[in-house]
This record gives sequence, C-alpha cells and structure tokens, in this order.
Amino acid sequence: MSIPYPRSDKYSHDLPTIYAECSGPGGLQLTEFMAEKMGLRPNARVLDVGIESGYQTCFLAKEYGVYVIGLDPDDDRSDGIPHIEHLMRNARNWDVEDRVIGLKLGVPETYFASNTFDFVHSTTTLEMMRGFFGETMYCQCLSEIYRILRPGGVFGLGEPMHLNVPIPADLAPIYTKGDGAGPEGWAKCFATVDETVEACRAVGFDVIEADNAPDAWHWWDEFSRNDPYCKADPEGEAKVIQQDGGRWLTYGYVIARKPD
Ligand SMILES: C[S@@+](CC[C@H](N)C(=O)[O-])C[C@H]1O[C@@H](n2cnc3c(N)ncnc32)[C@H](O)[C@@H]1O
Repeated sequence: MSIPYPRSDKYSHDLPTIYAECSGPGGLQLTEFMAEKMGLRPNARVLDVGIESGYQTCFLAKEYGVYVIGLDPDDDRSDGIPHIEHLMRNARNWDVEDRVIGLKLGVPETYFASNTFDFVHSTTTLEMMRGFFGETMYCQCLSEIYRILRPGGVFGLGEPMHLNVPIPADLAPIYTKGDGAGPEGWAKCFATVDETVEACRAVGFDVIEADNAPDAWHWWDEFSRNDPYCKADPEGEAKVIQQDGGRWLTYGYVIARKPD
C-alpha cells in the first residue's frame, strides 16, 4: 500500500539519492507523512532532532515554509564530516539557507530555553538512544523535547517499532544478539506504538494520534533495496529485513501536544 504523497512524489524518481542522504525507512515520504500529521504551517519554528544529512530537514523548510534548526551531535560515518555541514550543503542545494540552521548538539542536552519551539520533529533517532542507553535515557530525551516546546506546541515522533507480537522464531536469534545499531540490537531499540504512547504521556504530553504508518512495510522494503549500506552488504541488514517481511518490523508514529 502506498498513500499519495504529492510533495515528495516530485523527488521520488531519485530513490538512490534520497536513501543516500537520509538514513532510515521512508525518506521524504516519511517526512511528508509526519509534516501533514503535525499540521506544520509556514513560518513556524521547528526543531528537527537527528538529521543525518539534513535532506528531510531541507524538505520541511522548502515544502512547508518553516524555519528549522537541525540538531545532530555526530559526524557522518562514511566521510567523517559533521552531519550539520551536510545539512548546510543541502540547504544551499535546496535554496533554503535563510530558513535552516544546524547545531552540533543532541538530546537530551540541547541548551535551548524552555518553550522555544512551535514544533519538534524527530524520525528514526530516539529508538537508538533507547537501544544504546536504555529506557531511562529515552524518557529523558522525551522530557527535554517537552521542555523546549511551547505550550500548545506539537511533537511528531516517528521511529522503527515492532508489532505487538512475539519476535518470529526464525528472527529471535538475530534481533536479540547484541547492542549494535544493526538488526542485532533491534529487540533493545524498538518498542510498540502503545509503549511509545505511554512514554510520551508519562513526560506530560497529550497524545493526539498514534499508530503504525500505513506504508510501514513499503518503507522498510524500499530502504532495504536503496540504502547504500544495505546495497553494499546484501547478505546483512537487507536480507534480515526481507526475511522479516513485516511480520514483526513496523514503523510507528506519535503526534503529541504539550498542554497549554
Ligand atoms: C538513523 S539517523 C535518522 C536520520 C533521519 N531523521 C531519518 O529519518 O532518516 C539518526 C540520526 O540521529 C543522530 N543522533 C545520534 N544521537 C543523537 C542525539 N543524542 N541527539 C540527536 N541526534 C542524534 C545521528 O547522528 C543520525 O544522524
């Protein structure tokens, strides 16, 4: 299933570039899906948490006319260049330099004043914080996002999740093997939609909407066929995703509001 994506369809002829510049399932379709669910409006102040090369950040600035700060503490694993420098390269290419700023910072220590942003957007990022540092750290990240959103502000959280079913027996030995960023760590990283809703409510958010994205499997399938690291190692992550086939893997979202 694929729902219409009028804004990202303009770019979808170039999936290799989209998946080289982003780092996770969904690419620009995911970003459009989130932006529509969040109700982004022109000139709003948006924080994008975990940006990779900032391709999706620039898409938000270009297509929705928002001002975006992209936050990322890391350097690109392939070339060692800070992600925020790639963001500014993309900002020039997308002609949105006047609407985009990158900061080499991360959650949960952003140093922003409380009540700063109208919207916070974060995709395929916070689940890694859970995987590497545990549930307490995941909740600290949510608390920080809550603090820096203004009252009435909206948080759009999208991340790889799992369906509310046991891990299929053939995949359990893979998903529970370790702590890594690849499939070996996914049992530690991924939660269900219900668990994620609970975590958002626990830090104070009102949850407006939450579900598995209708195109979740389409995004995973597309990622496994186009992500450069998947393409370089077809017997690795790509094969595991195809073996899963959407039996356990999904992609969930939570749209949450900071109460007035
Ligand atoms: C898998 S990528 C997701 C990129 C993009 N948002 C997407 O949906 O494809 C995760 C990004 O989060 C960044 N990241 C890691 N730790 C972070 C932190 N503590 N705060 C913000 N971003 C972080 C990584 O450097 C990476 O660029």
